[in-house]
Amino acid sequence: MSARLDGKVALVTGGGTGIGRAIASALAEAGARVVVAGRREEPLRATVSALGGRKHAHAVTADVSRPADRERLLAETVDAFGGLDVLVNNAGTVASVGPLAEVTEDDWNRMLSVNVTAPVFLARAALPLLRPRRGSILNISTGASLKPVPGFAAYGASKAALNYACQVLALEAAPDVRVNIICPGGVDTPIYGTFLSPDQIESTHQFFRESTPLGRMGKPTDVAEAALFLTSEAAAWITGTTLVVDGGLNLG
Ligand SMILES: NC(=O)c1ccc[n+]([C@@H]2O[C@H](COP(=O)([O-])OP(=O)(O)OC[C@H]3O[C@@H](n4cnc5c(N)ncnc54)[C@H](OP(=O)(O)O)[C@@H]3O)[C@@H](O)[C@H]2O)c1
Repeated sequence: MSARLDGKVALVTGGGTGIGRAIASALAEAGARVVVAGRREEPLRATVSALGGRKHAHAVTADVSRPADRERLLAETVDAFGGLDVLVNNAGTVASVGPLAEVTEDDWNRMLSVNVTAPVFLARAALPLLRPRRGSILNISTGASLKPVPGFAAYGASKAALNYACQVLALEAAPDVRVNIICPGGVDTPIYGTFLSPDQIESTHQFFRESTPLGRMGKPTDVAEAALFLTSEAAAWITGTTLVVDGGLNLG
């Protein structure tokens, strides 16, 4: 059985860049019509155009940490394509890194808001759309949620909370809706530029190349292939799972 999504409608948050854009592209290639969301309009427009234009994709400018934006995002998805089959909670932030003793309460709250509150409440709001269509939810977490990484206490804690809430949701949404989690390792995306200097980005990339057993950083498409599998009927009997996609990094 191949992983296809013909006739399905998918919503990918953070779909304008990095892993989210690769997921949007993979789901579209598998036959889905895709809504991409994020705060910046330009990357979303570029993604819609790369996916073949408005017949196949739709952009919604939204900040997923705002309840009103989440409601509008779902309403616009239904307006654009008539319903929802697949929700990919991919938007995330590393608002700051550094020792836990130095994390500000604002940064802590920001990471919890974007990385766990937003995806959980978006998933809750989407359930009435997903249940009748036997849909699925995929959440992009991180390897840093599975073991302690110095400097990443707030980020890792927010994603660990996401993992737990999604496992509970998998039980509560069954048998109608499947809920799964992907934990990527180091993937080459713009996210590193949001909290590191250019020199730090290069040394971080080098760290990942040297510490990843499969010998390279991840590409966004590495995660997108796994996302397509988990959101398609090929994974019809998989729910509540945490799939680590990291070239073996988490084994060390
Ligand atoms: N790259 C890695 O090594 C790695 C590893 C593990 C996990 N992850 C996770 O993978 C996911 C995607 O990250 P990425 O690496 O692909 O980086 P990225 O290109 O920076 O993607 C993050 C996306 O999230 C969107 N976003 C951030 N805050 C948002 C908000 N409040 N509302 C709506 N959209 C928001 C951003 O768009 P706007 O800025 O336009 O809003 C952006 O498109 C994240 O959840 C990240 O935690 C990444």
